Amino acid sequence: MAFIICFLFLSASASLATAQETGSNIRLGSSLSPTSNSSSWLSPSGLYAFGFYPQGQGYAVGVFLAGIPPRTVVWTANRDDPPVSAGATLLFTNDGRLILRSSQGQENYVTAVALSAHSASMLDSGNFVLYGPKGSVLWESFDYPTDTLLPTQRLLGGQQIISSISATNHSTGLFRLKMQHDGNLVQYPVNTPDTAPYSYFTSWTDKTGDNVSLNLDVDGHLFLLNTTGYVIKNITTGGLPTKRMICIFRIGSDGLMRLYSYDLNQKGTLSVVWSSTNDECDPKGLCGLNGFCVKNDQQAACQCLPGFDFVEPGNWAAGCERNFTAETCKTGDAGASYVIQGVDNTLWEDDSYSVLSSTDKDGCKQACLEDCNCEAALYKGGNCSKQRLPLRYGRILITDATSGLIKVGIVKPVNASQNKKEITRMGILFLGLSLLAFGFVMMAISLVIICKNNVWTKDQAPRLFTYAELELVTDSFKEQIGRGAFGTVYKGVIGQKMVAVKRLHKSLAEGEREFQTEVEVIGRTHHRNVVRLLGYCMEGTNRLLVYEYMSNGSLASVLFKSPESRPFWKKRMEIARDIARGVLYLHEECETQIIHCDIKPQNILMDENRAKISDFGLAKLLNADQTGTFTGIRGTDGYVAPEWHRGQPVTVKADVYSFGIMLFEIICCWRRMEVDLLQREAILEWFSNGEIRKLTGDEKVDEDELKAAIKVALWCISDDPTLRPSMKRVLLMLEGSAEIPVPPIASSSICTV
Ligand SMILES: *[C@@H]1O[C@H](CO)[C@@H](O)[C@H](O)[C@H]1NC(C)=O
Ligand SMILES: *[C@@H]1O[C@H](CO)[C@@H](O)[C@H](O)[C@H]1NC(C)=O
Ligand SMILES: *[C@@H]1O[C@H](CO)[C@@H](O)[C@H](O)[C@H]1NC(C)=O
Ligand SMILES: *[C@@H]1O[C@H](CO)[C@@H](O)[C@H](O)[C@H]1NC(C)=O
Ligand SMILES: *[C@@H]1O[C@H](CO)[C@@H](O)[C@H](O)[C@H]1NC(C)=O
Ligand SMILES: *[C@@H]1O[C@H](CO)[C@@H](O)[C@H](O)[C@H]1NC(C)=O
Ligand SMILES: *[C@@H]1O[C@H](CO)[C@@H](O)[C@H](O)[C@H]1NC(C)=O
Ligand SMILES: *[C@@H]1O[C@H](CO)[C@@H](O)[C@H](O)[C@H]1NC(C)=O
Repeated sequence: MAFIICFLFLSASASLATAQETGSNIRLGSSLSPTSNSSSWLSPSGLYAFGFYPQGQGYAVGVFLAGIPPRTVVWTANRDDPPVSAGATLLFTNDGRLILRSSQGQENYVTAVALSAHSASMLDSGNFVLYGPKGSVLWESFDYPTDTLLPTQRLLGGQQIISSISATNHSTGLFRLKMQHDGNLVQYPVNTPDTAPYSYFTSWTDKTGDNVSLNLDVDGHLFLLNTTGYVIKNITTGGLPTKRMICIFRIGSDGLMRLYSYDLNQKGTLSVVWSSTNDECDPKGLCGLNGFCVKNDQQAACQCLPGFDFVEPGNWAAGCERNFTAETCKTGDAGASYVIQGVDNTLWEDDSYSVLSSTDKDGCKQACLEDCNCEAALYKGGNCSKQRLPLRYGRILITDATSGLIKVGIVKPVNASQNKKEITRMGILFLGLSLLAFGFVMMAISLVIICKNNVWTKDQAPRLFTYAELELVTDSFKEQIGRGAFGTVYKGVIGQKMVAVKRLHKSLAEGEREFQTEVEVIGRTHHRNVVRLLGYCMEGTNRLLVYEYMSNGSLASVLFKSPESRPFWKKRMEIARDIARGVLYLHEECETQIIHCDIKPQNILMDENRAKISDFGLAKLLNADQTGTFTGIRGTDGYVAPEWHRGQPVTVKADVYSFGIMLFEIICCWRRMEVDLLQREAILEWFSNGEIRKLTGDEKVDEDELKAAIKVALWCISDDPTLRPSMKRVLLMLEGSAEIPVPPIASSSICTV
């Protein structure tokens, strides 16, 4: 939401403010507390204040317009931290650190990083600045925008602003506006890759050069500027009065960008000068999966597709789930337990696995009913696009004559265990997605539980260490336990607990923001098959990550070191399922989608009991340039999905590919090199000739399980990412809860198997 709030600066505002300290320099040793007379520091004119403001039941720290109700907050420190109580203190310590100390004595850097400043200022521009020696700028709030840009503030290439939860809760919300490195200004939902299918607003200025920035002038002129000072594009015309006005640009919690103006001559009127769209249903992700957006009286609202109910009533973004348990679907009489319901003028992301042309609507309905894989279809002008659940970014679009068709189950009492028996008995090759959907629901429930747990573990967020502390922890980096392309790992001890400390190579020490974001993202993951990040350090050019210690080394060493020590088949399959669970968690995890980008046995670590994924998110950390062109992709040859080489967008399906390659290695205990040499053809030949035992050598294995695992691996390495199963499906197939269709690559040679 872009606001331009144009304020007349009233002298009265100063007297309304509770702060005592004014003037440009905030002295070392000063402090603030929420309920005292000094709860904030004012800018020289008294317009802006930095300090405590009420949030929820407590207080947050940020920058806001002083004394002008309703309080307009333009920046929030550590926005996702819970509010502090009235007993908290904000300290600008004698050694120049800006610390928020909770009433329990817990300390947190307001700047997120450890800094030692000489002085600080709340400027009249709304920028809060920490100065180093000789007045150099050490840190400024303008560099770390939350959801708002103020005049003279810029959004540089690679930066983004993220909406708040609501007008009164400034925690990270659902939408983001990214100034991409390719010069394009794009809006996406949070937790999505920077690729076209997710965007819902673009300035259409891609390929206009590196480091194009978004700028806001005091007159409300919003424009894109390249590094030679050339205006690439005007977004708004500007020309608003510059006296007695403040202009604020913001991405709103509803996903719209707006520029507001507030003229204090007509006190209290906040007016929208410009808005990125008039259609509140435009922002993708407003309604969660299987929901769709409708407009009631110019207000957006979410509804569920027929046969679906809200997962969490009142929380649109959580999406909808089936209100029935799907029946087993058998090819042939698939229609028996389903009907098709239509929703007219509906559109959702077209992610079809098959398109029929020259059909009519009834033909489309029939085709979906007869196809076990079909759970929904989009019908438009003779084209029938068959799709699987979940459906994303659904909305009503009156101007578009598209019909959405949803397959809805006829409600019958379902006995799941019976169903499963039936499937096995009849040996159906194609499992109707019904059981799968049942699994999805179960998984969704467990994910919700995981998600809830996550909230509780928030206080276990990764800790900030000083370099000296980590030197102590690792005994001056004495014992090296691993070395990769990006860092060296050392053993350490914290208290009684062993830890692994990874020191990133200095050459990678740029990208402060990305490092922080990643630390935050990784730090919030919590899953038994994902290595836990305990802490981090960023001091000077040092970048270190502290992980839990994994006693049995990497999967690569476990699999390949010696034939005697390798785990047996059952254990190997358990490891494969463990990894699948971990990857699934990263992909579908509640807060942030993480594409690992480098799944391989070297990055899977083992403790006594289970396999855990490590190094996740580092690819994104080291390659923040996700602009759709994908230059300089990391990833390990042989594991990298083919679309990366074609410069196509990277999606979660790239991880599925790497997982497939790794699954072959787990099955055969071959190194990837050998998998390459043997070629898929050889595997396929053995597979189709019933000679699959050759794959595992002498080892006694359950042949059905082996066959299943190979089929899963073959699905995973499909050339076409859309053909690759989701990680959910991979897991269900590996667990034996879902039948595995004949893999596409293999279908020509083994369709009779
Ligand atoms: C706060 O201000 C009030 C009135 O201005 C004054 O009476 C009181 O002593 C002040 N309290 C502190 C702790 O400075
Ligand atoms: C803000 O919203 C988040 C997410 O819904 C919630 O966890 C948090 O408690 C809210 N904060 C306040 C102060 O209400
Ligand atoms: C900025 O844009 C102008 C006009 O398109 C162009 O001539 C100039 O080379 C661009 N500068 C950079 C650094 O791309
Ligand atoms: C873009 O900005 C980055 C960081 O400020 C700088 O290192 C890089 O050289 C810039 N690129 C161009 C083309 O100006
Ligand atoms: C942008 O707007 C300014 C005036 O606000 C005008 O001078 C300039 O020519 C415009 N540039 C483009 C590329 O439209
Ligand atoms: C599921 O929802 C549909 C409407 O979408 C409704 O007709 C049906 O009765 C619901 N079934 C159950 C079991 O709630
Ligand atoms: C139907 O599909 C064909 C082929 O994909 C495409 O060329 C055509 O434009 C589509 N028709 C409509 C109405 O979308
Ligand atoms: C479900 O199936 C199992 C095994 O066939 C049977 O023992 C059980 O009684 C069935 N339950 C119901 C509710 O039909």
